Amino acid sequence: MKNQLKINSEFFYKDPYSFFREARELSPVLYTELFQRTGWLVTGYKEAESILKDSRFIKEETKVVPQDKQTIPKSIMPAISLNRKMMLFRDAPDHTRLRNLVNKAFTPKMVENLRTTVNEIADYLITNMRGKATHELISDFSYLLPVFVITDLLGVPKEDRDLFRRWSDAFIKFIDFNTTIEDLELVTKDIVEASNYFRNLISERRRQSKEDLISSLIHAEESGDKLTEDEMIASCLLLLIAGHETTVNLITNGYYLLLKHPQQYKVLKNDRSLIPSAIEEILRFESPVIFTSRWAAEDFDFLSNSIKKGDLFMVSLGGANYDSSVTNNPEEFDITRKNIKHLSFSTGPHFCLGAPLARLEGQIAIEKLLHHLDNPVLIEEPTRRANVAFRGFNHLRIRANIK
Ligand code: HEM
Repeated sequence: MKNQLKINSEFFYKDPYSFFREARELSPVLYTELFQRTGWLVTGYKEAESILKDSRFIKEETKVVPQDKQTIPKSIMPAISLNRKMMLFRDAPDHTRLRNLVNKAFTPKMVENLRTTVNEIADYLITNMRGKATHELISDFSYLLPVFVITDLLGVPKEDRDLFRRWSDAFIKFIDFNTTIEDLELVTKDIVEASNYFRNLISERRRQSKEDLISSLIHAEESGDKLTEDEMIASCLLLLIAGHETTVNLITNGYYLLLKHPQQYKVLKNDRSLIPSAIEEILRFESPVIFTSRWAAEDFDFLSNSIKKGDLFMVSLGGANYDSSVTNNPEEFDITRKNIKHLSFSTGPHFCLGAPLARLEGQIAIEKLLHHLDNPVLIEEPTRRANVAFRGFNHLRIRANIK
């Protein structure tokens, strides 16, 4: 039976956690309507964790939802087919093949080697903020840092970096829960443009390889298997978008939280060894990705619920992070917590491939902001971006002297 939990998007963007608490109190796995979707809303930590690790919950909708219920207009098909080539929307064995290939080009060692680059980029951005009394932190710093890092890593020329904001906005709109077919039609054009861009860049690298991730992807090979051209384009686009839409929110959410909790700010400023755990608490408290989804692959019983093949599971990572059966006083932001548990990078086979890079960028960004920004104050209360799955701000305006 469908539950009638009511939520309006304005309220949700401001405070999704009260809504998740209300849902969890009704049931940690609740059949309900949510924005444009109907399915099982999962807000319990253990329940979310077991779904994400269980191969009966899958990513490929086409395998389980009957063709006649997949009412996809032709006009958005190009973007849909590109999405379906991304590892994020695939299941084993294709998921495993794609992930292993990209993993070869994207190793933790390679990420650790990026420490100097990330530091240099952060210093460069801070230098550009000097001489101004007020700053919009997203456009001055937290958007640019991950974009510079991921475009450098992929091998996107510097002069093309600006193209990606529109393409990336289009993509996150495309995968959000709260989008209408009209929205999707509008953004499909941008997604096709982005894929043409990568098609050209890949053929350039085929002619002349460089020291970058695109060239490594071209060479990456496993058991004689290669990425098809479309899979390679989809992987580049996924890395690019996953690589900055999320990290910009980690940095901005994190700095905002510290400004709103002056005591915690002081503790962290005086003891930088707490930065890694502060980043984990920021991830838990304001997860940049608050939702992901899965489809039931078959009919089965799950936690006393009768699940039907093709049922949608809207897994709330942000909701799970606030489950008091796993975290004491989850509504308290505390950077000194021990053994922080969160699902912000998901878990199971789709565990975020970029987690080591995201952590590195988050840690360096917060350290630089703490070190260089003197007496920072919020100029106004920021507003949230209108997106259900990705949690970030439109702007973060602050006043601070830059050391
Ligand atoms: C704070 C920053 C980040 C957060 C919160 C985040 C979160 C996530 C989450 C929740 C998933 C899995 C979704 C699911 O299970 O359905 C995911 C997957 C992924 N992420 Fe991240 N991510 C971040 C940064 C990055 C970065 C920097 C990169 C790469 C440069 C990246 C690349 C990926 C890729 C390729 C996948 C797909 C993995 C797969 O399907 O096997 N992410 N990320």
